[in-house]
Amino acid sequence: MKRILVLGATGSIGTAALDVIRSHPDDFRVAGVAVRSRAGEAERLGSEFSAPWFAGEDAAARAVRETDADLVLVATVGLSGLAPTLEAIARGIPVALATKEVLVAAGGLVTSRAREKGVPIIPVDSEHSAIFQCLQGERASSLSRITLTASGGPFLEGPPDLSAVTPEMALRHPTWRMGPKVSIDSATMMNKGFEIVEAHWLFGVPLDAIDVAIHPESVVHSLATFADGSTLAQLAPPDMRVPIQYAFTWPDRLPAARAALDLPALGSLTFRAPDESRFPALRLVREAAAAGGTRLVALAAADEVAVAGFLAGKIAFPDIVRVVADVVERTSVAECDSVEAVLAADAAARDAAQLLVK
Ligand SMILES: NC(=O)c1ccc[n+]([C@@H]2O[C@H](COP(=O)([O-])OP(=O)(O)OC[C@H]3O[C@@H](n4cnc5c(N)ncnc54)[C@H](OP(=O)(O)O)[C@@H]3O)[C@@H](O)[C@H]2O)c1
Repeated sequence: MKRILVLGATGSIGTAALDVIRSHPDDFRVAGVAVRSRAGEAERLGSEFSAPWFAGEDAAARAVRETDADLVLVATVGLSGLAPTLEAIARGIPVALATKEVLVAAGGLVTSRAREKGVPIIPVDSEHSAIFQCLQGERASSLSRITLTASGGPFLEGPPDLSAVTPEMALRHPTWRMGPKVSIDSATMMNKGFEIVEAHWLFGVPLDAIDVAIHPESVVHSLATFADGSTLAQLAPPDMRVPIQYAFTWPDRLPAARAALDLPALGSLTFRAPDESRFPALRLVREAAAAGGTRLVALAAADEVAVAGFLAGKIAFPDIVRVVADVVERTSVAECDSVEAVLAADAAARDAAQLLVK
């Protein structure tokens, strides 16, 4: 019986995770749930699962300190995932990590602390779960390239002018039902840029050995290419319960009451290179990642502010990437090898972004 602490329990990932737990009552128990603002919903979940619940800005880290969990699922949004992730690592508890912004802003810090403590970080993001699954039984040193697949989001084919895009249009993802921040990040493809950085830290692969392929069917979740030229892929229906359940059961697998893929019914799977002139976020992330340190923190922080500004109707869709680029450009490059340095760079970038999102 594995006791799982679910941070971000009312969100899209949290809800899917609780579904996985409900469907395996003999294997999983909820050690606790944490949310930010929906306290009433957290209380309802606490009573359903006979588990303590926590609400508020610091609820997630508090929940890690005050519960006994065998695994912590970090599925809050943005840098709010950093404190609970570090707390879990400090307590020696394995982390199932959905909150990719944690690795974008503080990947070096988090992965080195996890290594020192021997704490596994198990990816929940479908692309990284795919690579993680392809690596089982392989030597990590044999991995030579990673190809992250991307649906391309709602604006892969049009409209030609993205300045008239509304929040409703941008939130309508063609294959995944997700929370608002990650949906907008998918529409700008900032999300895929974040995933390049996430893959770099999780699998120790250089940034220039991580490719992106547009794959609108969202069935091949990513591919790992090895030194001998073999490429392995993981395929599954586009349902986050698949990677979430794997993160909960790794290195084992449990049955799931879900139909597996029917390849003949799908007919064909397609792949193409991303159009970086239409989606400049990809290049922006690669440049910030090459500079590292404060620039990556600034990238993640400015994106949170810009996405919130777009959803509130304060800036246009193409301004999201412009605001982020502007803040990143103005951020001087420095190391960020302590929590204090990350938080200081985060606060400075948020202030700078706020001035551009009025
Ligand atoms: N959705 C997906 O399919 C998907 C796929 C891959 C990766 N991810 C990543 O997973 C993370 C979660 O995404 P999501 O789509 O599930 O987001 P979401 O639907 O917006 O849900 C966010 C959850 O986090 C909680 N939360 C936010 N700030 C918190 C804080 N400071 N302390 C405690 N709880 C807090 C929210 O609580 P309230 O409800 O009270 O506000 C809510 O339960 C993101 O980093 C995203 O990039 C998501």
